[in-house]
Amino acid sequence: MEKKKLWWKDGIIYQIYPRSFQDSNADGIGDLTGIIKSLDYIKDLGVDAIWLSPIYPSPDKDFGYDVADYLTIDPKFGHLQDFDQLIAEAHKRDLHIIMDLVLNHTSDQHRWFVESRKSVDNPYHDWYLWRDPAPNGGPPNNWLSSFGGPGWEYDRYLNKYYFHMFEKHQPDLNWRNPELRAMLMKVFRYWLDKGVDGFRLDVFNAYFKDEQMRDNPRKKGLARRPFEAYDHIYDISQPEMMEVVKEIRAILNEYPDRYVVGETFLEGPVYARTLVGEDKFHAAFDFSFAQSPWNAKAFGKAIQYWDALHGDEAWPNYFLNNHDLPRSATRYTQNEDDSRLKLLATMLLTVRGTPFIYYGEEIGMRDIKVARKNIQDPVGKRYWPFYKGRDGCRSPMQWDANINAGFSTADPWLPVHPNYSVRNVANQQSSPASLLNFYKDLIQVRKKHRSLQAGKMVLIPSDNKHLLVYLRHLEEETSLVVLNFSSDIQHFELPIDEVNEWDMVFNGNDAMTSHMSGTGISLPAYGMAILVSRLAI
Ligand code: GLC
Ligand code: CA
Repeated sequence: MEKKKLWWKDGIIYQIYPRSFQDSNADGIGDLTGIIKSLDYIKDLGVDAIWLSPIYPSPDKDFGYDVADYLTIDPKFGHLQDFDQLIAEAHKRDLHIIMDLVLNHTSDQHRWFVESRKSVDNPYHDWYLWRDPAPNGGPPNNWLSSFGGPGWEYDRYLNKYYFHMFEKHQPDLNWRNPELRAMLMKVFRYWLDKGVDGFRLDVFNAYFKDEQMRDNPRKKGLARRPFEAYDHIYDISQPEMMEVVKEIRAILNEYPDRYVVGETFLEGPVYARTLVGEDKFHAAFDFSFAQSPWNAKAFGKAIQYWDALHGDEAWPNYFLNNHDLPRSATRYTQNEDDSRLKLLATMLLTVRGTPFIYYGEEIGMRDIKVARKNIQDPVGKRYWPFYKGRDGCRSPMQWDANINAGFSTADPWLPVHPNYSVRNVANQQSSPASLLNFYKDLIQVRKKHRSLQAGKMVLIPSDNKHLLVYLRHLEEETSLVVLNFSSDIQHFELPIDEVNEWDMVFNGNDAMTSHMSGTGISLPAYGMAILVSRLAI
C-alpha cells in the first residue's frame, strides 16, 4: 500500500535569503511583497516549500540572525499583514512556508536583553548568561566566539560578563531559565497558529552550555584559528538538549503536517542523526555532502554514510548551497560553463532524501567578489583577507537583463554579479538547454517516477572511479541513476537480466546527452542518465 505523501518528504525545499530576492519598493532590500510576486516563478520551478531566512526585526549585525523581536516582521521586509498574505498566496499554490528560528541568541537590542542588563534583580536578568569576572578581572572561562575573539563581553555597569557564541551583539540566551524556555515555546505556537508549516532551527545544539561553565580542553595539533584549537565539549551539544528537542516536536505534533529541521553547529553526521526521530526533529543538516571534493567516490561516500545513518526509520536531506557557504557554482566550476552544475543537480534531486535548493542555484549564480570597504558580513570584516565572509553567496537574484538584474530599481544592498546581463531567469527561461530548464525538467521526471522521490537507495559499486551509480526502489518500480564526474566520455554496462527492461527517462537537456548502445550507456563529459524499469511479475 502506498504510504501517505508528505510534502517535506517527497517534496523539495527552496531557501530564500529575503534581503536578496526581490525588492518591491525600491530601497535596495528584498521584501515580502517581492517574494509574493515571485511565487508563480517558484511554483513553476516545481518545488514544494520555501524556507525564509529570518525576517524578524533586526539591527542586522548578522543580517537577521540577530533578532530583536520574535513575534513580528521587520518593517524593511513588510508587515504582519504581508506575511499573512504570503502564507495565503503560498498555500493557494500548494507551497509550504518554513521560518528560520534563531533561539540560541537574540540581538542586544531585544527588549529582554535591554532589561537583562539593567540590574541583577531585573526579572529578565537571568534570561542571558551573565557571570562574574574571574578573580583577575578577566573573562569567566576560556570560551571563545565562533566569529572570532573572546566569547565574553564585559558590562561595566553590572561588573559582569555575558556570553556570546557569535557577534558580541548576539548575546546567548539562558535555556536553563524556565520562564525563558516557556516563552520560546510560545514563539513556536505563535507562528504555527499563523499557519506556518515548519521551522529551520538555527544552531540549535548550542542552546545549552555546561551548567558549571568549565573550560573547554585544548585540542592537540595546529588550528587555523583559536576557536578551532579547543574541543567544544562544554559550550555546545549538552545532554539537556534532547528534552527540548522532544518538547518542540510535541508542540509541532499538535498541528497537522508540520516539519522541523535543525542546523547542527560544529558537529558531524553521527551527532546530527541523534537528534532525528519520531519524537525528535524530522531532519538535521549535515555539511559533508555540500563540502565534498569533486569526485564520484567522495560524493558516494558522503551519501552512503548519511543514508545508512538514517536507515528505514528516518529520512535524510541534502543541500549543496546555503547562505553560509560559497556557492557550488563557484566551488566546482571555474568559468560560465554549467555542465558540472547539471550533474550536481541530478545527484541532489535523485538521492534518497529531501533536497534543498538555495535561491539562484537553479540559474547557476556565482559568488560575487566584494571590495573590502563594501564587505557587509561581520565575519568577513574580521578575517579579511584570509576569509572574506559570506557576502559572496548572498548577492541579488538575477531576474533579467534590466538594471540591477531586475532585483531593484535602487542600488542593491550588495552588488549584483557582473554576469547578470547573460545569466538571468528571463534568458534561461527562453533557452531550452539552460540550467533552469534542466532543473525544471528533472523535477518533473522526479515527480513522475515515485521511486525517485520515495524509494530506498542502493549504491552500486563501480570499477570505474568516475561514475557514481545507484538504484532507487519503490514497490514494483526501480530507477537507476548513473552520473559521470569526469570530463571524458564514460561507459556503463546495464545490470540486465530477464525481468529488467530499462527505459531511459532523462539524459540531459542539451546536445551533450547520454545514450544507450546495446546493453550499455555512453555518458558524455559530466553526463547523466536516469533509467526506470518495471519488474514484470
Ligand atoms: C547560523 C546561520 C548563520 C548565522 C549563525 C548565527 O550558522 O546559518 O548565518 O550567522 O547561525 O546565528
Ligand atoms: Ca524593499
